Amino acid sequence: MKSIITISLICCMLLSRCNLLHGHKLKHHFYEKTCPNAESIVLAGVKKAQQQEARLPASLLRLHFHDCFVQGCDASVLLDDAANFTGEKTSNPNNGSARGFEVIDQIKAEMERRCRGVVSCADILAIIARDAVVLSGGKPWKVQLGRRDSLTANRTASNQFIPAPTSNVTTLIAKFKAVGLSAKDMVTLSGAHTIGQARCTAFSQRLYNQSGTGKPDPTINKGFLQSLQQLCPQAAAAGNSNFLAPLDLRTPTHFDNRYYLNLQAGKGLLNSDEVLYTTPGFTKKYVRKYGCDKEEFFDSFRKSMIKMGSIKPLTGKKGEIRNNCRFTNSGL
Ligand code: HEM
Ligand SMILES: *[C@@H]1O[C@H](CO)[C@@H](O)[C@H](O)[C@H]1NC(C)=O
Ligand SMILES: *[C@@H]1O[C@H](CO)[C@@H](O)[C@H](O)[C@H]1NC(C)=O
Ligand SMILES: *[C@@H]1O[C@H](CO)[C@@H](O)[C@H](O)[C@H]1NC(C)=O
Ligand SMILES: *[C@@H]1O[C@H](CO)[C@@H](O)[C@H](O)[C@H]1NC(C)=O
Ligand SMILES: *[C@@H]1O[C@H](CO)[C@@H](O)[C@H](O)[C@H]1NC(C)=O
Repeated sequence: MKSIITISLICCMLLSRCNLLHGHKLKHHFYEKTCPNAESIVLAGVKKAQQQEARLPASLLRLHFHDCFVQGCDASVLLDDAANFTGEKTSNPNNGSARGFEVIDQIKAEMERRCRGVVSCADILAIIARDAVVLSGGKPWKVQLGRRDSLTANRTASNQFIPAPTSNVTTLIAKFKAVGLSAKDMVTLSGAHTIGQARCTAFSQRLYNQSGTGKPDPTINKGFLQSLQQLCPQAAAAGNSNFLAPLDLRTPTHFDNRYYLNLQAGKGLLNSDEVLYTTPGFTKKYVRKYGCDKEEFFDSFRKSMIKMGSIKPLTGKKGEIRNNCRFTNSGL
């Protein structure tokens, strides 16, 4: 008995030492003493944004994803171009489609008024993502906090790590694995496409020239194909049309599991969506499961969001707490 206690004591000491060596862990109550209203300040800002424009929660949720996949969740995506680096806002995945930055500016400004120099932009983005889901009808979770903000951004890495909408399942799984997320996380987090919009340019190859065949993607539902071709004429598609289609054609502002039912009906919008169902194997199984079990989807989504939100955070003394999410404090 005594030796068991001794061993577990030693284990505890070793573990906490490891923790010290590897930096600090994120925790839910991080701002309990320093800014107890942090989460309510964010929620008010996201609510206001949603009232302004029903699409904004989707746009904001996407920013957290595009942040975490590039150097970890460090608010690098929010930085404007600076003297010594080019920001990520003009990377292929972001240029012309990343949006909602003004909402973050407003929330951050209010945060600075109430708790100056305390709450990081990376944490604000993680809280915003949760609130975007909840205000759209999804299930809440406790956001882990304590991230700090990067001193730099990396457009090359944004191009490299964020998957393209033309991706097949192999590529999607590989890109998620590269940041420590599983194939299941990938299918689950793709369910974020239950809200929001995409430009024709993100899917027009499917309508006219899938994989260079000169023909539409045969897996698209015929009626759905026709309506998309009407929205995105070939000429406009060639000229990078900015017309928008909902990612979930049935309930584009409601966070639910309809996305997975759409895929099963050949009504997924992006190639990266539809292949989750049309490619035989593991991903298809989860599309079926989530399609018939909303609770299971919500539960998995919560877990995968927490996992995505924990990708390589800057903690302790690394990075900084930015005053303005668009610039590093040194202004370089
Ligand atoms: C699995 C790989 C993914 C790919 C290939 C992908 C690709 C895309 C593309 C191409 C768009 C439309 C951009 C445009 O208009 O050009 C989009 C929109 C969106 N994505 Fe993803 N995405 C993926 C995963 C995710 C994840 C993990 C999330 C969040 C957890 C997410 C959230 C969103 C949201 C909410 C929108 C709509 C944004 C808006 O309306 O402004 N996506 N995605
Ligand atoms: C971003 O989009 C704008 C407007 O379409 C375009 O002029 C610019 O060249 C693009 N930038 C990059 C880096 O692709
Ligand atoms: C840009 O300058 C900041 C501040 O000196 C520095 O921390 C950062 O690493 C620099 N970034 C690049 C890409 O050189
Ligand atoms: C930016 O990302 C690229 C691709 O991942 C990497 O090779 C490069 O070292 C990064 N640049 C900086 C300054 O971190
Ligand atoms: C998936 O896409 C990648 C990159 O375009 C390609 O190299 C690979 O052959 C594709 N895999 C399958 C199974 O189609
Ligand atoms: C389809 O795309 C391929 C390359 O992917 C190209 O060679 C071909 O000309 C395109 N066909 C049409 C009809 O646009």
